[in-house]
Amino acid sequence: MSAVEKMSAAVFEQFAKVLESNVGLLIDPSKDYLLDSRLSPLAIRHGYSGYIDFIKYLVNNPVGNLHWEAFEALLTNETMFFRDRHPFTTLQEVILPNLIEKKKVSRELKIWCAASSTGQEPYSVAMIIRDYFPELLGWKLSFLATDICHHAIAKAKDGIYNNIEVMRGLSQEQITKHLTKLDNNSYQMKQEIRDMIKFELLNLIKDWPSMPKFDLILIRNVLIYFSGENKASIFKRIKNQLDPQSGYLLLGASESILYNPDFQSIDSRNLHFYKIK
Ligand SMILES: C[S@@+](CC[C@H](N)C(=O)[O-])C[C@H]1O[C@@H](n2cnc3c(N)ncnc32)[C@H](O)[C@@H]1O
Repeated sequence: MSAVEKMSAAVFEQFAKVLESNVGLLIDPSKDYLLDSRLSPLAIRHGYSGYIDFIKYLVNNPVGNLHWEAFEALLTNETMFFRDRHPFTTLQEVILPNLIEKKKVSRELKIWCAASSTGQEPYSVAMIIRDYFPELLGWKLSFLATDICHHAIAKAKDGIYNNIEVMRGLSQEQITKHLTKLDNNSYQMKQEIRDMIKFELLNLIKDWPSMPKFDLILIRNVLIYFSGENKASIFKRIKNQLDPQSGYLLLGASESILYNPDFQSIDSRNLHFYKIK
């Protein structure tokens, strides 16, 4: 019997609604193994007999701390340094040189990495800046990285990664240059890199705080979890958040907005970089 059958379709439906309206995440009844594997440890820790009882409690009570613990347990924080590689090559070879040319008079550059998870993505951009465009360190560089997940943001701020995380995407040269070895199984991003980025909590499907217009927005591998309606609303707000002259948007490898009238792809190879039309 599937979990949905065990807990009744109505309870599942109610939980799916609470989750989507608070976090944006869509869950599908066929993914009941995810509910089991991710919520059972939390349920047991909080004294419930299992995840089904826990979900029953959640749908019958106003959203509070326990709900947020459950939501966070259901988020996928999967990330790595220089994920998919080629967007970072394009960033280095095309996008950043272009932005430097456009912004050389104001000498201001604003970057936002939305859904930055545990920090590997914004730190990859910061490493490119330090390695290839050190002149930007003398500019007014503002680099915001946000995520909905408290523990991801806390880890990103600390910038501490284990051996496996560090080996996923970084060369030995990059490790030596940008991280400090803490012990046999952990490294920390050097202070100078950590100081470049401001990490904050931000829920993409709720109101956004007042923010400047950005020259570059990275929003990768998060919109895939959202409904068409939430995606459309986020794209509208991203359009308002991008500098209309200079702004670039970078999506994840499996995401595209080719048919959105507000954006155009900047490359026929569909590298997932877009500009406002
Ligand atoms: C799969 S990770 C992608 C991380 C990184 N952008 C990358 O591509 O490697 C998705 C991230 O989106 C975050 N997320 C999910 N829903 C969110 C929301 N409503 N607002 C902000 N972040 C959200 C998750 O916490 C998670 O860290």
